[in-house]
Amino acid sequence: MSAQAPVRRITAPQIAARKGGTPIVALTAYSAPMAALIDPHAEIILVGDSLGMVVHGLPSTIGVTTEMMILHGQAVMRGSSRAMVVIDMPFGSYEESPGQAFRNAARIMGETGCGAVKLEGGSRMAPTIRFLTERGIPVMGHVGLTPQATHTLGGFKTQGRDTDSWAGHLQDAVDVAEAGAFSIVVEGVVEALADRITEAVALPTIGIGASARCDGQILVLDDMLGLTARVPRFVCSFAELGAAADRAIADYAAAVRDRSFPGDDNVYR
Ligand code: KIV
Repeated sequence: MSAQAPVRRITAPQIAARKGGTPIVALTAYSAPMAALIDPHAEIILVGDSLGMVVHGLPSTIGVTTEMMILHGQAVMRGSSRAMVVIDMPFGSYEESPGQAFRNAARIMGETGCGAVKLEGGSRMAPTIRFLTERGIPVMGHVGLTPQATHTLGGFKTQGRDTDSWAGHLQDAVDVAEAGAFSIVVEGVVEALADRITEAVALPTIGIGASARCDGQILVLDDMLGLTARVPRFVCSFAELGAAADRAIADYAAAVRDRSFPGDDNVYR
């Protein structure tokens, strides 16, 4: 009997070929157990730098380091076997020059085994995206609301409310696509602009706070599971795990205090 063939992970060219097809399912994960839950259901698991806020309690993604991304990326790779794992390049690890971006992207890929990196920015990052893709590093772009630029954008503001800004946003997406990205996250833009971007580029757009007509959707896992206290309007809670965890912890605390836990079944005799 022949040994069972190992399950191969979904690749960047397979994602790129999904333009206009069945919507691509993507979620963030930062740990092995959560990656294992997502793996059978999603094509892409993103180790987003949102982990700085979600896991480490930072006020923004600015303080996230390459070491943090690698540690969580390794955990997500261990927990998954089928989905493509994409790891965010954190603020300060790629903007300086294409050479700096290549060194850090190669380190992230080499130390985690992930399938691609994601970096934020439109036209200004296109030369860097080209430099990476020409050297064997698949890149997912990220345009619209780019959280690493929160200080220059003046906060987490929906982009494209002013139609005069649309040409710039469209050019960002076109330049990222032409530089060789295999897909592009479109975050926090008005619906009609997201639709224009999806029509303008030949690669799949992955929307978050964008439009149902994007080629795929991504959410932060903790937000859609109801684990985050305050979520933006574009998030739909598919479960209320935060409330369930609160009840469970309160029940445990009460059981410890009234000595009903540990019970007869929970001790070794
Ligand atoms: O860091 C992140 O989680 C992201 C997604 C929200 C797209 O970039």
